[in-house]
Amino acid sequence: MAKKQINVALIGYAFMGKAHSNAYRQVGRFFDLPVEPVMKVLVGRSEAKVAAAAAQFGWQEYSTSWEEVINRPDIDLIDIGTPNDSHALISQAALKAGKHVLCEKPLAISLADAQESYRVAATTNLVNGICHNYRKAPAIAFARQLVAEGKLGKIRHFRGTYLQDWILDPSVPLVWRLDKDIAGSGSHGDLNAHLIDTARFVMGAEFTEVSGLSETFIKERPLVADTDGGLTGFKSSGEMGKVTVDDITAFLARFDNGATGTFEATRLAPGRKNYNRWEINGEKGSIAFNLERMNELEVYLTDDPQGLQGFHTIQTTENFMPYMDAYWPVAHIIGYEHTFINMMKDLFDAIGNGTQFTPDFKDGMRNQAVLEAVEKSVVSRSWESVAH
Ligand SMILES: NC(=O)c1ccc[n+]([C@@H]2O[C@H](COP(=O)([O-])OP(=O)(O)OC[C@H]3O[C@@H](n4cnc5c(N)ncnc54)[C@H](O)[C@@H]3O)[C@@H](O)[C@H]2O)c1
Repeated sequence: MAKKQINVALIGYAFMGKAHSNAYRQVGRFFDLPVEPVMKVLVGRSEAKVAAAAAQFGWQEYSTSWEEVINRPDIDLIDIGTPNDSHALISQAALKAGKHVLCEKPLAISLADAQESYRVAATTNLVNGICHNYRKAPAIAFARQLVAEGKLGKIRHFRGTYLQDWILDPSVPLVWRLDKDIAGSGSHGDLNAHLIDTARFVMGAEFTEVSGLSETFIKERPLVADTDGGLTGFKSSGEMGKVTVDDITAFLARFDNGATGTFEATRLAPGRKNYNRWEINGEKGSIAFNLERMNELEVYLTDDPQGLQGFHTIQTTENFMPYMDAYWPVAHIIGYEHTFINMMKDLFDAIGNGTQFTPDFKDGMRNQAVLEAVEKSVVSRSWESVAH
């Protein structure tokens, strides 16, 4: 019997537009899905550019109006890959139009907007997903299994750093990620948001209170002339503008499982390109991960025999590890794009089987609550509790 078709519309065609498009194209080639995704419409603002992207990525149609597309009766799923300030508006409108929604992180640029998006989602039976794709890396999903099985015993610490250097050069222009009105925050919402999701996911714990600091080192940058997206190839205009977001945000945290946490995100760490590195320490061992070596986990277990104890590196590409039976024999590695393919597998399973996709809008809202409590603490210079 033919599978039910799910017509997808994707808004945004740059960095995430490419990653999501590739995942829609690939997911049914690796996984046996209960439904058939159809790459129906790609949406962008410039007709010439969205037409070219639609042809390159394999979309049947293109459009320059997301408002029109979310109201099309033949569209089942809206995927939002636009800058942050539009997420709440588009996701709420799409849910109200009866569409399943996958929204790039963050869910919104304020907790109030994120709460409203969650409230709207909770009034429907529609799938509502937030794109924290690193959860879908086999290493991270396997780390969660090890923690849940008690291999590390009671967890005491989560220690995360997410470091990049792509805005190190002061001539990098004021792209939307450096504008608070569009991005909400800087490294904090861009990078700490990923660590926050990972900590919640791997430990199965909630943040209770936080204490943070932020700094903006490069306070002015050239205005951007070309606003087409991506993290490279910008063109600047002659004028300067004010950077309105943090270059670095670091914070301490406490969790409801009793663990403590430290977090740091910056895009001014020379030589660190996409260093999403975290470590978790329990009473019986530790696990460490680095996205730049995403097929590996470093593991230390105190139960190992004396003389053989030490961190060892395991390949998380064994076929019994999460998602890996769809791919290759062990250690025939996978990459960044597979985190999105794995996410689409879970998404279409949820749509086809009527089950819940995670992370969902509740996870997005909780993430936003942590981000906002840290920002509050930076201003108050004191500990702030995290809203639930
Ligand atoms: N999950 C991840 O790991 C990850 C990684 C990068 C970015 N993101 C998130 O994805 C989102 C997009 O980031 P990106 O790096 O792809 O940005 P980008 O700047 O590369 O692309 C943004 C796209 O949105 C389009 N766009 C902007 N405003 C629009 C509008 N009003 N209507 C229609 N299209 C519009 C632009 O033309 C462009 O195609 C952001 O929210 C970001 O936080 C997530």
